[in-house]
Amino acid sequence: MIRVLFVCLGNICRSPMAEFIMKKEIEERGIAASFEVASAGTSDEEEGNPVYPPARAELSRRGIDCSGKRARKIARADCAHFDYILCMEDWHVRSVLRLCGEKEKEKVHRLSDYTDRPHDIADPWYTRDFAAAYGDIRAGVAAFLDNLQEKTSHT
Ligand code: 4NP
Repeated sequence: MIRVLFVCLGNICRSPMAEFIMKKEIEERGIAASFEVASAGTSDEEEGNPVYPPARAELSRRGIDCSGKRARKIARADCAHFDYILCMEDWHVRSVLRLCGEKEKEKVHRLSDYTDRPHDIADPWYTRDFAAAYGDIRAGVAAFLDNLQEKTSHT
């Protein structure tokens, strides 16, 4: 079982988009049974709230349902539980490392660092460009899975 946690600030836009894009992608690749996928925020500002409607609409346009998701803040227990903690921005990586400690450094990455265009995934809460967020996140998820499948095919 490979356990993956996506992290952003509020857990109502980017990280839930990543969670549900990933769930669809592993379903399509026929590898869903090997994964546990979840998401959380570095802040508790949106705790308990559903996915932000424009983010939900962006997923829905792609046939992805995220209706049961409620925002939660990352907890210390997540550090040991998850194998990969994939963050939207570099400062989320730094927050997660502060929470989890340097010993978990190997599992904490910025999602887009798996692509050939490493960058912070812009917050659509501010940019209002949910389609761009979707594209960036989808590219990151696909690159992460390609990387993982390449690694496991050589072991
Ligand atoms: P997210 O977006 O980190 O992608 O979930 C945000 C959601 C809420 C806020 C900021 C960003 N906020 O300031 O409440």
